[in-house]
Amino acid sequence: MQRNVASILAELRQDHKNMIRLLNLLERESHRIQAEQDADFELMQDVMHYMTIYPDAVHHPKEDRIYAELKKTRPELASGFSRITLDHRAIAEQGLRLRNDIDLIQAGAMVKREAVVGDALAYANTLRNHMQWEELDLFRRIEEMIRSGHTTLKKDDFPVAADPVFGARLERRFARLFEEVDIA
Ligand SMILES: [Fe+2]
Ligand SMILES: [Fe+2]
Repeated sequence: MQRNVASILAELRQDHKNMIRLLNLLERESHRIQAEQDADFELMQDVMHYMTIYPDAVHHPKEDRIYAELKKTRPELASGFSRITLDHRAIAEQGLRLRNDIDLIQAGAMVKREAVVGDALAYANTLRNHMQWEELDLFRRIEEMIRSGHTTLKKDDFPVAADPVFGARLERRFARLFEEVDIA
């Protein structure tokens, strides 16, 4: 069982690395807009599309499941947990709003560029801070739960969904995004 949870934790860490690469792209394009240079809105659209269909739909629910287990088996390690759900919800809401704004721009609607830049940078900031909290604190608590052998979680307890960009099969609509990502 411990090995199952450990492998899920490894996947979560890999997801974070992938998300950081995509946030780098989002920030790069946002800074181009700020500098009144041509920005790649299509790329920003792809990033936000990915964020709403994989991290929000798969990564965060996986974490919610594992945090719920930690709270059940080692309640003394679960202080401050109420913020996690709030964070995940805020990230999803901010992400959806940003995705809609970028979709509108792509559709030719009048959307204030400064508002999109502000929303994009705020989104990247929120998500980066959240991931840092997990890496430096929450994931270490999960490791402690694994070490103490308290969990009975199995891999089947987690949602299964392929990552459309970084998974074994690249979804065709994300081909361009994948080319732009710095995998190194
Ligand atoms: Fe999270
Ligand atoms: Fe996470």
